[in-house]
Amino acid sequence: MVPAYIPNPVAALCGGGTPVDFGRNYKDGRRLLGDGKTYRGLICGVLAGIAIGAVQIWLAGTCGWTSLPQHTVASIVLLSLGALLGDMGKSFIKRRLGKDRGAAWPVADQYDLVVGAFLLMLIFDPAWIFAEVTLPVLIVILVLTPVLHRSVNIIGYFLGVKKEPW
Ligand code: CTP
Ligand code: MG
Repeated sequence: MVPAYIPNPVAALCGGGTPVDFGRNYKDGRRLLGDGKTYRGLICGVLAGIAIGAVQIWLAGTCGWTSLPQHTVASIVLLSLGALLGDMGKSFIKRRLGKDRGAAWPVADQYDLVVGAFLLMLIFDPAWIFAEVTLPVLIVILVLTPVLHRSVNIIGYFLGVKKEPW
């Protein structure tokens, strides 16, 4: 899951500039995604996830970490891109529910990246997910994700990188 966990904090660090929705509104008069989803955040986040994944592939090859899930080029791209597509999908629904940018939406804010990453993986490389994400792995992901999400966001908040600690 490392390639899926890295894009969000990196997007928060590097984000800014042109919003993905170019400032446009949906037919309900609210923003399509909002100013919290930018091209810079998206591109830097996905590239960082892929870079970390490449290091994992290299480490698995040189250190023989065969007990860990085995990454491929497809798996690291799908996990990183899926994480931020999930985040954008969540923002789209958040705006439709009338929640402003940065408003807390418990559960969705924590699991959007898992849903996005798994969905993209199921569409483009289902064999990987069925081989690597066994029940114990899934349970660890479901428990660890909200804990990591909250911890990293609290750190980001105190460092002044994030406006809200969630
Ligand atoms: N960010 C970005 N581009 C992205 C994702 C995130 O630039 N694709 C940056 C933005 O600066 C954003 C910050 O990371 O404010 C934190 O991300 P997040 O909490 O997901 O966004 P919110 O501002 O809370 O917006 P939303 O309510 O839509 O989730
Ligand atoms: Mg947020």
